[in-house]
Amino acid sequence: MSDNLRVFIEEDKVNARIKELGEQISKDYAGKKLDVICILRGASFFACELAKRITVPVEMNFITVSSYDGTTSTGNVKIKNGLDDPIDGKDVLIVEDIIDTGNTLSRVKELFLAKNPKSVKICTLLDKPARRQVDIQSDYVGFKVPDEFIVGYGLDYNQLYRNLPYIGIFTP
Ligand code: IMP
Ligand code: MG
Repeated sequence: MSDNLRVFIEEDKVNARIKELGEQISKDYAGKKLDVICILRGASFFACELAKRITVPVEMNFITVSSYDGTTSTGNVKIKNGLDDPIDGKDVLIVEDIIDTGNTLSRVKELFLAKNPKSVKICTLLDKPARRQVDIQSDYVGFKVPDEFIVGYGLDYNQLYRNLPYIGIFTP
């Protein structure tokens, strides 16, 4: 491990928390079907692990959004690849790696709400409340994190470190 990378949440703790989230979501959506929409690339690891822990029927969708360059948000949220399948009348769960300024998720949620789903909720592995710029909350949060740059479990620094099985803090 390099000097600028340290473990913040160990792998088994992350996995245990994801299992809990899956159980909670399964209870909340009992008797329903869930459309899980994963925001690539960061949420890919989390969304797949979470979906495996959800016991109600799950449809999986993947969209691409970009707003980051290095360690700072560009504040310019772009949806590069949209939804292939319609979401009208569906219970949608947007799955994202982290809610930071909130710009990405507020934009994505707004876009989805315009497509007449039955409901839209948000699930994020991490929440960094210190940096919020817009008034939006994640309905399901794995862990709250301090104002540090996080990598691992899907989160990257210039496209690296996504494959770490734990959540780490990176100091560039
Ligand atoms: P927001 O629009 O500022 O809420 O940022 C959301 C996106 O920024 C996430 O999807 C991440 O890709 C990225 N991001 C925010 N904080 C971090 C971090 O600490 N490490 C890696 N990526 C981050
Ligand atoms: Mg992201």
